[in-house]
Amino acid sequence: MHNRDTFASKIGIVAAAAGSAIGLGNIWKFPYMAGKYGGSAFIIIYLLAILLMGFPLICAEFAMGRKARTNAVDTFGVVTSKKAWNIIGVVAVLTVFLISTFYIMITGWVIYYFVTTLTGKLYHIPVGIEVATYFDMVFNTMSSSMWLPLILALIAVCATGFINAMGIQKGVEKYSKLLMPVLFILFLVLIGYSTTLPGFKGAISFLFQPDFSSITPSVIISAIGQAFFSLSLGMGALITYGSYISEKENIRSIGAQVVIADTIIALFSGLLIFPAVFTYNLEPTAGPALIFMSLPQVFLKMPGGQLFSALFFLMIFVAALTSLVSMLEIQITYIEEKTKWSRKKATAVVVAAISLGSALIIGGEGPLSFITITGKSFFDSLDYLTNNITIPLVAVFTAIIVGWVWKKNAFNKELAKGGHEANTVDHFFFFLLKWVIPPTILILMIALLLG
Ligand code: PHE
Repeated sequence: MHNRDTFASKIGIVAAAAGSAIGLGNIWKFPYMAGKYGGSAFIIIYLLAILLMGFPLICAEFAMGRKARTNAVDTFGVVTSKKAWNIIGVVAVLTVFLISTFYIMITGWVIYYFVTTLTGKLYHIPVGIEVATYFDMVFNTMSSSMWLPLILALIAVCATGFINAMGIQKGVEKYSKLLMPVLFILFLVLIGYSTTLPGFKGAISFLFQPDFSSITPSVIISAIGQAFFSLSLGMGALITYGSYISEKENIRSIGAQVVIADTIIALFSGLLIFPAVFTYNLEPTAGPALIFMSLPQVFLKMPGGQLFSALFFLMIFVAALTSLVSMLEIQITYIEEKTKWSRKKATAVVVAAISLGSALIIGGEGPLSFITITGKSFFDSLDYLTNNITIPLVAVFTAIIVGWVWKKNAFNKELAKGGHEANTVDHFFFFLLKWVIPPTILILMIALLLG
C-alpha cells in the first residue's frame, strides 16, 4: 500500500468534516424542506434523527474508516473480512458521484447570483415587469439554458479539484481551516441583521411551534434522509475522512463538534431565511427556488439588500465548496487506490467524469427537459433516489455491519484508541446502531414503497 497522508491536527479534521457537513444541504435544502413539510414538526423529527441516528453513524463511519485506512469501497470488506460487503461501498461512492453532478450545478447557480449581485445586473429590474415575475424569469432563463450553467458548474468543480489535487494536509485541511471561519463570520453578520427584521417572530413560531398533522412516513423518511445528507452520511465521506484521522484523536468528540456545528447552521439558516420570507409575505413552501426566486425579492426591498445578497451568496458558495471537496475526496481516494494513479491524475479523471454527468443534469433542466423519469427531471429523480433510497440504505447497512458483523468489541476498541476509554455514550450508540437504526429505517422505507 502506498503512503497515506493523515490530517495534521484535530482542528483541521473538525474543520474538514464540518466543512463537508455544512453545505447546500443546510442553507439551501433544509429551509425549503422545513417550509414544505410544515416547519416545526419536520424539524423535531430532523433533530431526533440527527441525535439518535446521525451522531452514532458519524462515529461508526469514522471508526470504520480509521480502522480500515483505505477508500470508502474497500473499507466495508476490510472491517468485515468479507469482500462481498464492498457492494455497500460501491453504492455509497456511486451515490456521491450522482450527488456531485447536481451539487456543482447548484453551486454554479450560486456563483451566478453572487456575480450578478456584484455587477448590479440582478437587481436592475426592467420597467413594466412585476418584481416576482422578473426574479422567476431570471432564474428560469439562467437555469434552463445550457452553456452558462455548464460553464459555472465547471468553474465550481475545477476550483474544488484544485484544492483536492494538493492532498489532504496541503489541500483539504489547509483550505478547510481557512474557509470555515470565513463561513462562520459571514453567517453571523447575516443572522445579526435578520433578527432585526419584523418577520423574525413569525419565523420563530413557524419553525418552532410543533404541528404534527403533517407527519407521514414520507415526511419522516425525508427528514431522516435530510439529516443524513446534511451530516454527509451514507456516502462514504466520513469513512474517507476517517481513514485520514490519526490514532490518537477522539472520534466521539470530533463527531460531537460536527453534529453541533451542522445543526446550528441548519437551524440558523431557517432563522436567516424565514424572517425575510415572512416580513415580505412570501410563500415559505416555495421549494428549491426559495433562495433563488424568493429571497432576491426580499433583498431588493430591504435596506442594504444588495450587500446582504452578495454576502449571502458568497457564504453559500464557501459552504458548497468545502462540501464538494469532501465529495471529490471520496472518489479521488477510491480511484487513486484502485489504479495507483497519481493524485493529480485521479483528480483530473474525477473532475472530468463529474463534469460529463453534470452536463446531462444541466441539459435535463433545459434543452433536454422533455426527457423525464416518472414525471421528474434528471435532477429531481437523482435527488429523490439518493435522499430517500440509497443514502438511507447505505446508512442501514453501515449500522448493520457495525452492530452485527463488526460487533461491539471492535467498535468500542476503535473509539477508545488514543486513551479515550469507551464510555456509556459508546454503549448507547452501539445499542442504537444494532437495534434501533436498521429496523426503524427499513420499516419506513417499506412503508414508503407500499404507500
Ligand atoms: N453535507 C453536505 C451538505 O449538507 C452534502 C454532502 C453530501 C457532502 C455528501 C459530502 C458528501 O450540503
